[in-house]
Amino acid sequence: MINLFEMETQAAGRMDPAAWGYFAGGANDEITLRGNRDAWDRLAIRYRTMVDVTTRSLGTTVLGQPIDFPVLVAPTAMQKLAHPDGESAMARAAGACGTLMVVSTTATTSLEEVRKAATGPTWFQLYIYQDRGATRALLERARDAGYSAIVITVDTPLLGWRERDIRNGFTLPPHLTIANAIAAGAGHDRLPTADGEGSGLAKHLHALHDAALSPRDIEWAHEVSGLPIVLKGIVRGDDAVRALDHGAAGVIVSNHGGRQLDTSIATARALPEVVDAVGDRGEVYVDGGIRRGTDVLKALALGARAVLVGRPPLWGLAVGGEKGATEVLQHLRMEFDLAMALAGCTSVAELTRDLVVDA
Ligand code: GLV
Repeated sequence: MINLFEMETQAAGRMDPAAWGYFAGGANDEITLRGNRDAWDRLAIRYRTMVDVTTRSLGTTVLGQPIDFPVLVAPTAMQKLAHPDGESAMARAAGACGTLMVVSTTATTSLEEVRKAATGPTWFQLYIYQDRGATRALLERARDAGYSAIVITVDTPLLGWRERDIRNGFTLPPHLTIANAIAAGAGHDRLPTADGEGSGLAKHLHALHDAALSPRDIEWAHEVSGLPIVLKGIVRGDDAVRALDHGAAGVIVSNHGGRQLDTSIATARALPEVVDAVGDRGEVYVDGGIRRGTDVLKALALGARAVLVGRPPLWGLAVGGEKGATEVLQHLRMEFDLAMALAGCTSVAELTRDLVVDA
């Protein structure tokens, strides 16, 4: 593999077209989907020279947990659509690369099974359901299974308008289930059929998700689980401060990979405002369109503690299961290491804002 885009092309050729459309697509005109990528490209690196970069250290910590390089596997739903080994293979790949995986509520493998397969730390991504008893059960299961943080997605009161899925009548094939859903009170663990009224996922989600989230839910999730809470889907400094005021340990600057509100701000543009608002009160992560080691470098220079990648490890999973996902993560690590050397940096602590300007 020379770059991640090659893996994308290979994955596209292997996957069922409707499943591919689900992974690849964004909301509406996919302006934010493209905008996330473009925003990283529009940043230029003011690299340093005359620095001894013979040895470099890429490691950092996230919520106190050491990781080998600052790239986490983002929560993405239904990974068995990419490969029969699904989420378990992804967890092993993350562990093999010395990093952590965030496991989706909407996984096709139960959270306990993923945790058993995992060879590294895992965080659990939570959608807050209207049924708080069911949500509580998920929080308790995640805690008991050994997850070390809860990532609450806050940008999905309703599902974005995903035209590829609507056109394809996207739903899960009969042999796959939303494995956490029955226990979570969904009443069924299959996606409804699309019936020409939007995607099956949209129906599933609209029936379950709470469109009335409040910052109080952060405190409640922390009380129930005893775990640190990270909020995902924040693009504003004031929202980040509200999250911290209610006990969040960190935020993920994210627009859900361009899958929710189209024309929303690119994450690379939103990141500095959120970093400044948070200061040293919590950790800030970012996702959306990270495809190059130079993107990772830019994100850390702008103040992110680590980045998350969603689609690229799915491409690897689709092409080669655990091995493919591992290759993708290792490739990104190699590119990031090279970018560090060429930018005159030997540790992530040296990645400061002066390294980046608007191109
Ligand atoms: C689910 O969260 C999705 O983005 O499809």
